[in-house]
Amino acid sequence: MAEANEHVILGIESSCDETAAALVTREGRVRAEALASQVDLHAQFGGVVPEVAARIHIQACLPLVHQVLEEAGVGWERVEAVAVTQGPGLIGCLLVGIETAKALAWLHRCPLVAVNHLAAHVYSIYLTPRQGAHLLIKAGNESNVVPVAPDPAGSSLSAEPAPVIARPALPHVGLIVSGGHTSLVWVEGPDRMSTIAQTRDDAAGEAFDKVARAAGLGYPGGPAIDRLAEGGDPRAFDLPIPMMGRDQPDFSFSGLKTAAGREAERLKAQYDGRLPEAVQRDFCASFQEAAVESLLGKSLEAARGRGVHDLVVTGGVACNRGLRRRARELTRSRPGLRVWFPHPSLCTDNAAMIAGLAWQLQPLSPSDALRLNADPGMGI
Ligand code: KG4
Ligand code: ZN
Repeated sequence: MAEANEHVILGIESSCDETAAALVTREGRVRAEALASQVDLHAQFGGVVPEVAARIHIQACLPLVHQVLEEAGVGWERVEAVAVTQGPGLIGCLLVGIETAKALAWLHRCPLVAVNHLAAHVYSIYLTPRQGAHLLIKAGNESNVVPVAPDPAGSSLSAEPAPVIARPALPHVGLIVSGGHTSLVWVEGPDRMSTIAQTRDDAAGEAFDKVARAAGLGYPGGPAIDRLAEGGDPRAFDLPIPMMGRDQPDFSFSGLKTAAGREAERLKAQYDGRLPEAVQRDFCASFQEAAVESLLGKSLEAARGRGVHDLVVTGGVACNRGLRRRARELTRSRPGLRVWFPHPSLCTDNAAMIAGLAWQLQPLSPSDALRLNADPGMGI
């Protein structure tokens, strides 16, 4: 629920397979959020089908907007602006969000703000989630953190140990790691980011999804591998750690994906198509460790090379427990290093990050707003 007379920005996100709407205050407090995930629908195809995704966004978008306004008890007079993802993403999906946002902004005489989805992922660490807090790891210890004073009305926060109030120092290194992206960015401010390195081929999340599919573990593969890897032996299979020992800052996951896929095929042949659970666990633990070593190794090299101590990890793969555990180990041996993870609800695609970053950006002029187009290949 928003406080009386409090103003919010309405965020709309539809770049891939989640339709989302959220209301966020100027201080970055998430007042309401709603999300319609298409994961179950696309699971039968083993991946996102763009045409199907776009059609579902059309059905879901406006009801979600109405839902968040109602939930927060906010009328249009308190909506400061409408913010929407301009890119990167699937063109048909982006256009649904953009045209909906344009129509709402025009109808309600609101400014329109175009937001870069990748920059919004990085910015999500500055938002105060509705429930819970972000995770900060330093010297091997984890603490729950919120970036601004906790909301006294927030009931769920009071049930947990009081979160520490903190935020990452600027500049810092951001790692965006999702199903569509794996990039390292240099963050000097909310609207001052530049790319340090990217993946040369597959995104890390894509490798999780495809390897899980090859091993018959379902879709999306990331959460399935994360779950099975617990209790598995990461040394059971010898898989290559991508790009390790190379001078270049880039990531590459196609070699690991191919090696793990081949291993999965060999195992399926050995076990008549169905891997015993113990083998699944070892296989997932081995794959996950190789991916995590590469992600954190390259990120820490980038932070060290630039002389900064803060690394912010965002995107769907940032939910991975093996990644968080390894970050804890690494911060033990590196004095001063701090690794930040947004609350899981802000790691995967969401509209709060779009609305939150929009407070820091210039709205489009009315004529530019009507001309806004999707930018499917938008970079940082
Ligand atoms: O950020 P996101 O929701 O959407 C994109 O922009 O891609 O990320 C989705 C990706 C998927 O590839 C999914 O398998 C992965 O994030 N993912 C995970 C975990 N949860 C989601 N990967 C590893 N471990 C997880 N726990
Ligand atoms: Zn994303």
